[in-house]
Amino acid sequence: MHRLFFASALVALSAYGYETPTMGWSSWNTYRVNIDESLIKSQADAMVATGLKDCGYDHINIDDGWFGGRDENGRHTTNLKRFPNGLKPVVDYIHSKGLKAGAYSDAGENTCGWKWDNDELSYQVGFYDHDAADAKFFFTETGFDFIKVDFCGGLPYGNAKGEKMSERERYTAIRKAIDAEGFPNVRMNICRWAYPGTWASEAGFSWRVTPDIAEGWENVRNTLNEGLLLAPYAYGGHYNDLDMLEVGRGMTLEEDRTHFAMWCVLASPLLIGCDLTTIKPETLELLKNRELIAIDQDPLGLQAAIVRQYADDRYAFVKDLGKLGGTVRCLAFYSWSDEASEFEIAFDEVDLGGKVKVRELVEGVDLGTMEGKLSCKVPAHGTRVFRLEGEKRLERRRYPAHWAFLSGYQELDPDARTANYGLVKGNNGKYQYTARRVGGAEGDYLLWRDVLSEAGGEYVLKFDVFPCDGAGFDVEVNGENAGFASKACDFTLKARLKAGPNTIRLSNDAEKMCTICGVDLEPAAQQ
Ligand code: GLA
Repeated sequence: MHRLFFASALVALSAYGYETPTMGWSSWNTYRVNIDESLIKSQADAMVATGLKDCGYDHINIDDGWFGGRDENGRHTTNLKRFPNGLKPVVDYIHSKGLKAGAYSDAGENTCGWKWDNDELSYQVGFYDHDAADAKFFFTETGFDFIKVDFCGGLPYGNAKGEKMSERERYTAIRKAIDAEGFPNVRMNICRWAYPGTWASEAGFSWRVTPDIAEGWENVRNTLNEGLLLAPYAYGGHYNDLDMLEVGRGMTLEEDRTHFAMWCVLASPLLIGCDLTTIKPETLELLKNRELIAIDQDPLGLQAAIVRQYADDRYAFVKDLGKLGGTVRCLAFYSWSDEASEFEIAFDEVDLGGKVKVRELVEGVDLGTMEGKLSCKVPAHGTRVFRLEGEKRLERRRYPAHWAFLSGYQELDPDARTANYGLVKGNNGKYQYTARRVGGAEGDYLLWRDVLSEAGGEYVLKFDVFPCDGAGFDVEVNGENAGFASKACDFTLKARLKAGPNTIRLSNDAEKMCTICGVDLEPAAQQ
């Protein structure tokens, strides 16, 4: 199934090195709109005093609740009970601690706090109709470094006209206004509570992919489960945001560990949501787990993808660390089962061969050197994360559909019947993820990135399609036409791959393509 993948062929792959997911603290989970100047300052103090800053948590984000309405010139004012001196002294204080300051606003008119927390002064304070002036206010005048932009005000209930605004238009316009004000490096978080569509990576540094998280295992688990299939969209230094952390807010230690570890495995922003001034030692220890933080902050900027689903409630994830196609990988076993369970995986399933050095990062234990497979007992609601260092990297023979980026994928409009991943019984009788409804419009495509070949050369590409319920498709390898795959050729083509990472792109501008299960790659010489 695999060929050896020699490290020497991969030197060219180490050019990745992206800005990593945002780390810090945000006021929302514990305080909702009940924030004020001294509270925010005390959290900044505690960020430093607890040593969290030294672990990389460098943002203090002021969420909803600071607004005081606009003055007669349309300028922002602050809630005078909460921020009597405005925001600038607070931002300056945060900066004086060597930290970055995060702001909050809305892409439409009224904020979510106006709607859900009776925060009356948050009326018509969003960016809508004020893009340039607000960009100036937040960044030039007040000095914020980051902004989370919500969307309640873009929905009919949140603006005077009762309009449903276009997410893409609003966030793109706000991004442009921030750039035009001279702040292209300001990170914008798109907060639209579901994966908004592939345009988001042009406007946002990160984007929320779930409804609001809340304390308690069920909420955290449900939130996490919405992010499991989104690995292809965290790419090039842009990230899926699973929402602010509920660590230290009432779950068991094992559940807190799963929450934190999986946010790291999935390369989500890490925004602490508990009160830092009263944080418990065991919470602090978990949040300061530098080995897990390194998984989140890996410079490749990858979100781990599902490599095996054992059951509805048990999954294994994998991603490269440090070097694309190298011998160091992260493997995670995640279980939301209410029972303890046994996990096992063969190292060649995660593309590693020979002897493998294994360290488990949640408990922080060296498991020594192993060969063949890894077995591990995972407690109920538990997660174990491994740093694997193999002797050899093996060349992968199959890229499954759910590892592919679908340009038309989005979760805002469930009726749009756009490209998505469906769990269906495949040709081999097993349930597997598929890519459905791709194509039928210009620019609607499926893309496997980073298809790794050790030495390059001619390959046979066999597309596994099930059922053949649609049309064939054009195949491009590294941007070059490799032919049209259809029943006529048994969905099999030959193409040349280069040594290192390749792209394989499937498209059909005229018709929806048949459902794709994956692609199998075989060097042509071995046929
Ligand atoms: C929305 C967001 C939350 C929070 C609140 C503030 O619900 O999703 O994260 O910012 O608004 O009102």
